[in-house]
Amino acid sequence: MRGFKIAPSILSADFTRLGEQVSEALDAGAEYIHVDVMDGHFVPNLTIGPLVVAAIKPLVSSCGAILDVHLMIKSPENLIPEFIRAGADILTVHVEECVHLHRTVHMIKDGGARAGVAINPATPLIMLEEILPDLDLVLVLSVNPGFGGQTYIPWSTQRISRMRGMLDERSLSHVELEVDGGIKTSNVAQIVAAGASLLVIGSAVFNQEANIADNLDMLLQAAEGRE
Ligand code: DX5
Ligand code: ZN
Repeated sequence: MRGFKIAPSILSADFTRLGEQVSEALDAGAEYIHVDVMDGHFVPNLTIGPLVVAAIKPLVSSCGAILDVHLMIKSPENLIPEFIRAGADILTVHVEECVHLHRTVHMIKDGGARAGVAINPATPLIMLEEILPDLDLVLVLSVNPGFGGQTYIPWSTQRISRMRGMLDERSLSHVELEVDGGIKTSNVAQIVAAGASLLVIGSAVFNQEANIADNLDMLLQAAEGRE
């Protein structure tokens, strides 16, 4: 049993044939599909809404995979019911955007989805200390959110280790430690060694260099030091 999983981020997929790309990733063994929702306000980019989540939901759930929705939006409370109705299994909001984080987390859980909280690279990890026991997932950003294809911020690795320590100290092994941004075959092994359990990978999965299955295979081999 691998101690980690990969969640391909469809932000880097070919949107002219999104359904095919999602199926290819699922056929290649992906157990999670990561969806980046951006509103042009919280981050300087505009991407996907509940309609796209609903469109790919049947594909994802047909093979028991998980729809992992990352909300980089202002006032996420306004859209949480809509994304849950669309079929999100996990909904992740940003600590930087939620004044009433406890209320928002429980709004997600009461709605029947799993609750995640994301944290930007420069935000102190201590901001999550109180809410950690209520979470199903914590997402450590290793790039500044807003775009795929960015470069991994090197000091993110020690943040991942510290977050792993915070979870272990509190015996919160059920909380997924997700890392998102700039993950490649060159750095995936150190990220797993630092304690990540879920790896969001976009441009290293969806690209012109190789097909999705081969890219996922290369990443798994690199993560396990089998290159
Ligand atoms: C960035 C997003 C990421 C991004 C990852 O704001 O949250 O999920 O799509 O893409 P790569 O792996 O290309 O950095
Ligand atoms: Zn993301």
